[in-house]
This record gives sequence, C-alpha cells and structure tokens, in this order.
Amino acid sequence: MLAVLKAIENSILEISKLISSSGDFSYSDNKNSSGDQQLKLDLESDKIIEQNLRKLTIVQGIASEEREDIIYFENDKAEYLVAYDPLDGSSLIDVNLSVGSIFGIYKYSFSGRNLMASVYAVYGPRVEMVVADSTARLYRLIQGEFKFVRELKLNKQGKINATGGTQKDWSENHKNLINKLFQNGYRLRYSGGMVPDLHHILLKGGGLFSYPATHEQPKGKLRLLFEIMPFALVFKVANGGAIDKNGKFILDLKTEHLHDTSSVFFGSNNEISLVKEYYGIK
Ligand code: AHG
Ligand code: MN
Ligand code: MN
Repeated sequence: MLAVLKAIENSILEISKLISSSGDFSYSDNKNSSGDQQLKLDLESDKIIEQNLRKLTIVQGIASEEREDIIYFENDKAEYLVAYDPLDGSSLIDVNLSVGSIFGIYKYSFSGRNLMASVYAVYGPRVEMVVADSTARLYRLIQGEFKFVRELKLNKQGKINATGGTQKDWSENHKNLINKLFQNGYRLRYSGGMVPDLHHILLKGGGLFSYPATHEQPKGKLRLLFEIMPFALVFKVANGGAIDKNGKFILDLKTEHLHDTSSVFFGSNNEISLVKEYYGIK
C-alpha cells in the first residue's frame, strides 16, 4: 500500500508541475464516457498516473474517469486496483481557479466496501494532499516535499453551503433544504470544482456540499468510483457523513458500471441530519 501511495504522491508532483508550466488549456478532439470534452491536460495527467502505477507489481489494474474500461496490468496476483479522476474541475483551468486529482485504492474489486484508502490533491495557490484510511491527514507541499500538517476532523456543524446542479432543475425537497440553510445563516461557497469545494468544508471544520439528483440528471453528475467514494471515506473518518438522496451511505452503494454516478451530500453531522429531514428519509 505504501508503494501505491508513493506512486500517487509522485503523480501529484508531476501533475502540479504540468499545470503550472503548461500554457495549453485547449480541448482535445475526444469525449470521455460521461460525455465531457477532454482537455489535453486531462489526458496528460491521466498518462502521468498510469505510468507511475504501471511500475508497481502490487497493482492489478486502474480505472480512470478519462477512459472507458479498466486497464489491467499483467500482475495477476496483485491486490490493488486504483480508480482516479486525474484532473477534477478541469474546465476551470483556463480561469485559474483551483483544480484537483482524486484517487481511490480498492482491494480486489471496485466496490465501496473494498475501498482501503483514498487520496486527493488540491492544486491551488499551494499544493495540498489529503490521505485517508483510518484517519484523514493533511499534507502541504513545501520546498518540493509533502509535510504533514494535521488530522482533519469536522465539527458537528459548520457554516458553508456548497450546492451544485442547475437550480431550475432542483426538486422541491432540494430547494427547501437550501432555503433552510440560508435562513439558518449559512454562506454560499461554490467554485464549481468539487475538490476545492470539499477541501474548503473539511479545513473549515464543517458545512454541506450537495450535488443533487435533478430532473435533467436523475442520477446526479458526480461519479461514484472516481470522485465520490474516495471522498466518502475522507468524510467518514473525519467524523462527517456522505449519503445519497435516499440516505444511503455512499460506500454501501453498488455500481453496475464503472462510470455510474449518484446524487451526493457530504457534510458534518448536523447538516446530514437536516438533509435527511428535508428529503423525508427516516
Ligand atoms: P470533471 O472536471 O472531473 O469533469 O468534474 C467536474 C465536476 C466537479 O468538480 C464539480 O463539482 C462539478 O463537476 C461541477 O458541475 P456543475 O458545473 O454542474 O456545477
Ligand atoms: Mn471530476
Ligand atoms: Mn476529471
């Protein structure tokens, strides 16, 4: 496992250099399985990660948001499978907002129950990395090395409200929930990059991030294996919650396809209780 974490760390270092040195934020001619037009940077970041993980005999295979299928390496007895989003929020790269990378390390199969550890990186004014297994630990890139900063723990309640999806397509339940949060004094914080938006809540100690099911996207937008399962582990070990619109813990959801999506709510405990109340979940 340590070797996998090291390969991920090296990939993050390479991607951060690529982002800060590249002047080419243009799109490629390709779309990914979710129908998103891929940036050249999405594809280059994807390659960096593949090359680093391919060196390891303990990795059986990888799945990327930017590729249709699992890529198996020729390590039949290897335990680990890694699912990743090489560049999350990449459509924000041209406006110089923060973006990120997300990794889930699964054992034997890509399922929430088998998620052993997760890692995410935020490429902002600084580069930061969070590693989660039985705890969630924040590291900061200082003079070329990641230095441990602190453990992440959420308070019971926060002040941030970050919600996605097109508002005209929100359900009545979702509209009422969001109104209630604003009535309770929450502030809107939404950059459009899930990694910095969740990092914001985790570091400030609480709040709610939601990407709901909408009329247009009844299964939400965010992808289970690459995006929301890794963060569900982070929120769980940081004393928070991660549920879908039916109140199911994200890591208990089953995926039929690699690129399956789900509605999602990440937050501290009081906010997750409020979601359940407004969505009529017992
Ligand atoms: P990606 O860049 O990997 O496709 O992911 C973008 C995601 C996520 O970062 C963000 O929360 C969400 O898309 C934003 O979607 P909206 O523009 O619909 O708010
Ligand atoms: Mn993404
Ligand atoms: Mn992406």
